[in-house]
Amino acid sequence: MAATKTYLTGIQTSGEPHIGNYIGAIKPALAAASSYDTLYFLADYHSLNTVKDPQRLRANIRSVAATWLACGLDPERTILYRQSSVPEVFELTTILTTVTGKGLMNRAHAYKAARDRNEAAGVTDLDAGVNMGLFNYPILMAADILIMETDFVPVGRDQTQHIEYAADIAGSFNHVYGDRYSFPIPQGVYPEGEASILPGVDGRKMSKSYDNHIPLFLPENKLKKLVRRIPTDSTPVEDPKDPDTSVVFQLLTQFADADRVADTRKRLEAGGMGWGELKNELFEAINTEVAAKRERYDELMASETELDDILAAGAARARERARHVISRVRAAIGID
Ligand code: ADP
Ligand code: TRP
Repeated sequence: MAATKTYLTGIQTSGEPHIGNYIGAIKPALAAASSYDTLYFLADYHSLNTVKDPQRLRANIRSVAATWLACGLDPERTILYRQSSVPEVFELTTILTTVTGKGLMNRAHAYKAARDRNEAAGVTDLDAGVNMGLFNYPILMAADILIMETDFVPVGRDQTQHIEYAADIAGSFNHVYGDRYSFPIPQGVYPEGEASILPGVDGRKMSKSYDNHIPLFLPENKLKKLVRRIPTDSTPVEDPKDPDTSVVFQLLTQFADADRVADTRKRLEAGGMGWGELKNELFEAINTEVAAKRERYDELMASETELDDILAAGAARARERARHVISRVRAAIGID
């Protein structure tokens, strides 16, 4: 019988974590930590595609690590590490490129979206502005997952294709070398419900790269201001409103309890509840959820050594596992 299943997920260090990261990835991942073998890491090399400023990158790395810990990650139980601390990830990436079809990469959403943007802008070279880091992104992600022999990957629904690719790439490797070594085929674990991809303040998917996000640990007064600034239409207070087309309401459903959400829905539909009141409700709901965690976050960010010590201990444990796997992979492919 197989031992405890392994859960692994990563967050890019491309900015301060936001409430979409929290609902889509951090909260579900931490819920799994009590029953499974868990490894959560900072995808710092992935974020190099977008962050070219070393000072900012360092700050983001601290911020993402502090966020995991402030949200309750117990570093004794869960291995918390930086991707860059595990060079075996990059070795495995090279190996995986040799069993991955270029056609598969051509169909990757992020790459296709970049080409579509060029086409829409009338740029003739559809690959203009696309670097190989973006093109290879899914293979690096597959290596993150496979190097730890991961069974389950808790992520937001925007990551479905990436998980399918990791499973595909594992399958290709196993097809060639499976009589000597096989990776477990990883599966995504997604938050329940359609609303689980949180919209940003402009209605698109909340993302650091769209700059439409609500950072998880904004100071209280700034959080209040940001929530107040979410654009709404000019429907008068007394008119009925459609909760399902409101970003503010959609965000509320993720933070308030079910009774409160049902009650607010009724009040919006009946008329008499203004957007301002709804925003206050959203602010209170988020703030209630994050207030204590924010204190711990601020403490960790202020400490010189606490984060570094935890990450160093996590790196040693992560690397030990990765070394074991890469040596078996090397033996299977004939480079030993
Ligand atoms: P971003 O798009 O802001 O750069 P990441 O790509 O680093 O965020 O995502 C880290 C994790 O958070 C992933 O599991 C992703 O699915 C999840 N996530 C990101 N944005 C959202 C969102 N708007 N709603 C739900 N989950 C999200
Ligand atoms: N691509 C993920 C995102 O943007 C981040 C990530 C990198 C990841 N490697 C991973 C997630 C491995 C899960 C497992 O959100």
